[in-house]
Amino acid sequence: MDINDLKPITRCTVEPSGDGLVARVGDEEYLVENLPIDTEKACRVIGQLDGNRSVSDVLASDAFDDIPRAHIEAMIQSFFESGLIDKNESPDCVSGFECILELEDLQNELLYKTLYRNVFWEKCQDPSQVPLNVFYGMAIENYHFLFRESWFDSPILGFATSTESRVLMNHFFCEEYGHDELILKSLNEIGITREQIYRTVPLPETLALCNSLAHWSATDPLFFFSTMGVLEGKDLKLDSYVNAMEESGTVQEDFIKYIKSHSNINLQDAHGNLSREIFRRIPVVARSEIERMKRQTHMFIEIYDRFYTAIWEHYSTTSSLLRLVN
Ligand SMILES: [Fe+2]
Ligand SMILES: [Fe+2]
Repeated sequence: MDINDLKPITRCTVEPSGDGLVARVGDEEYLVENLPIDTEKACRVIGQLDGNRSVSDVLASDAFDDIPRAHIEAMIQSFFESGLIDKNESPDCVSGFECILELEDLQNELLYKTLYRNVFWEKCQDPSQVPLNVFYGMAIENYHFLFRESWFDSPILGFATSTESRVLMNHFFCEEYGHDELILKSLNEIGITREQIYRTVPLPETLALCNSLAHWSATDPLFFFSTMGVLEGKDLKLDSYVNAMEESGTVQEDFIKYIKSHSNINLQDAHGNLSREIFRRIPVVARSEIERMKRQTHMFIEIYDRFYTAIWEHYSTTSSLLRLVN
């Protein structure tokens, strides 16, 4: 903020002393020398900074016309730095809940521009056009993602900023634990065993998503929390993937049922609300933090978009479902 727009409060009394002035705070005295302006006028300026008037209002007086503005600003600045004058700036921050609503606005804008229109979700609108391997491939990549969920859910369990948020996160972790096993049951139904899936690697885009989330979870907890609503399907009333499989007429019911039960857990336990519930328990977030998280949101949505696009591009063209490492 421009120094002239501030309404500073003087924390000291001042009076001229020789070539400089003496500033007193309680029993302490400070000698200020080499002032860039006349000592008498310096004391008058400082004395008028009462928290109610801006610096420019104070300097509007004719008495200070003959002093270069830059000199007065330099003097006030040095008093800020020594703590003798308080800037009296109101902190630029919002509540955690306002913060997540603002981030969600951007998430939604980007999701509707990219991910919700990407090839995977577009094709799911007409399930008869989706190859069986794409439905299976989605389960395989989802398995890999859930199998690695502890990479990104566990670093956050010790979140110290808010006890209530930490409790919520720990509760969520317990609910999520083992969901990869549900997907594995579906894969078992089409003949893919645990031993086989252990010998496979995810698509690079799946690993990129896992690695990014693990990085954010370990280094930027607040931002990681903001991603959870998107990952858990905050806007969904039903799972379009499950719906598409059911409507396709090509996917066996035994394969769908475990994936559907996982999807229902997310819906029934309101996992999509998790980001909001966590942020609701965070009292304040600085404006600068929100702007930083907005910049990262672009990257997160792009990585998530590529996760689904890659599933379509790989599994719609391959005849072998498993990407074996040997
Ligand atoms: Fe889950
Ligand atoms: Fe979940």
